[in-house]
Amino acid sequence: MKINGEHHTSIKIKNGPLKSIRIIDQRQLPHRLVWEDLGFVFEVIQAIKDMHLRGAPLIGAVGAFGCYFATLESGKDQFLENFNALCDKIEKARPTAVNLMWAVNNVRSLVAGLHNKGTEIKDIQRMAFQKAFEIFGNDIDQCRKIGIHGLKIIEDVAAKKPDETINILTHCNAGWLATCDYGTATSSIYQAHDKGIKVHVWVDETRPRNQGAKLTAWELGQHGIPHTVIADNTGGHLMQHGQVDLCIVGSDRTTRTGDVANKIGTYLKALAAYDNQVPFYVALPSTTFDFELREGKDIPIEIRSENEVKYMEGKSNNEIKNVLITPEDSPAINYGFDVTPARLVTSLITERGICEASEAGIIGLFPEQA
Ligand code: MRU
Repeated sequence: MKINGEHHTSIKIKNGPLKSIRIIDQRQLPHRLVWEDLGFVFEVIQAIKDMHLRGAPLIGAVGAFGCYFATLESGKDQFLENFNALCDKIEKARPTAVNLMWAVNNVRSLVAGLHNKGTEIKDIQRMAFQKAFEIFGNDIDQCRKIGIHGLKIIEDVAAKKPDETINILTHCNAGWLATCDYGTATSSIYQAHDKGIKVHVWVDETRPRNQGAKLTAWELGQHGIPHTVIADNTGGHLMQHGQVDLCIVGSDRTTRTGDVANKIGTYLKALAAYDNQVPFYVALPSTTFDFELREGKDIPIEIRSENEVKYMEGKSNNEIKNVLITPEDSPAINYGFDVTPARLVTSLITERGICEASEAGIIGLFPEQA
């Protein structure tokens, strides 16, 4: 990822007697770039719950570092009980993105195995850190590979309209801010742009938290990618008028049959894309598959505070302000995610390649999950 022309990753490791991490406080973007230090379990939980950081793969990686902090905070007596209790809390910080559960379980089973073998606590701590660091590194690698596979799709579209701009619609932020680097949906867009393909991105604002307007627009701008922010309801109109060549979105959890949970509003874009024969792609690393789940209706959908719907935040006279946009007493409801059925998804783009959104397609790429 580029910030002011310099390469960064979304998590930085802070070395010291005890390691800690640094993340971007995404609540401050696009108006301020603020890095925040996290070194304790409670800080990780709060940062995930309050969306200082968000995006399924990034939540997973930060959750893994949270489990490392848990090894430092679990004492010596009853180490495993204390550690597991802290991991339970990390795992519950947000319910929909399966990457968090996957990452916590990864560190948790490593730690339990080492503890049961009688490994010294300081060695367990060292290896828990290594595991979190490996999850972070793998996410970067997976997102880079997703970009390589997705690039082929964009190249195919470009070959059919030489010298013309390829218009791609995306929802929410499935960019590098949502991962450890590159992003999922944006990874192939960055690669296409870097190869000289003319791309333009329609950025759904993504109410209520406006991850598109605030985050996707900012990171595309930092990379020099032409883009236009649109109100969430605009996509269907653009598709009807031939102004969208393809959609690429991310995912928070995808079942083994290819149903895709992603930010609320994704489903409506998939319906519009289907009606207008616009290909609708979902880019995701293998850590976002829930191989245990068959049906999208079983994915837990987060319901967040009604105030995220009732209030809007923005900059005015150089100050960040939060303003009420509804009648004070009107209730609101804030579903964070929806599920797009597999039949509306053209293909899934993963680090192993592109597949049909179906059990056969997914297991074809991930035969170890058969
Ligand atoms: O509530 P958020 O901002 O964490 O939701 C994020 C999304 O829905 C992203 O599209 C998804 O995590 C894919 S991230 C690469």
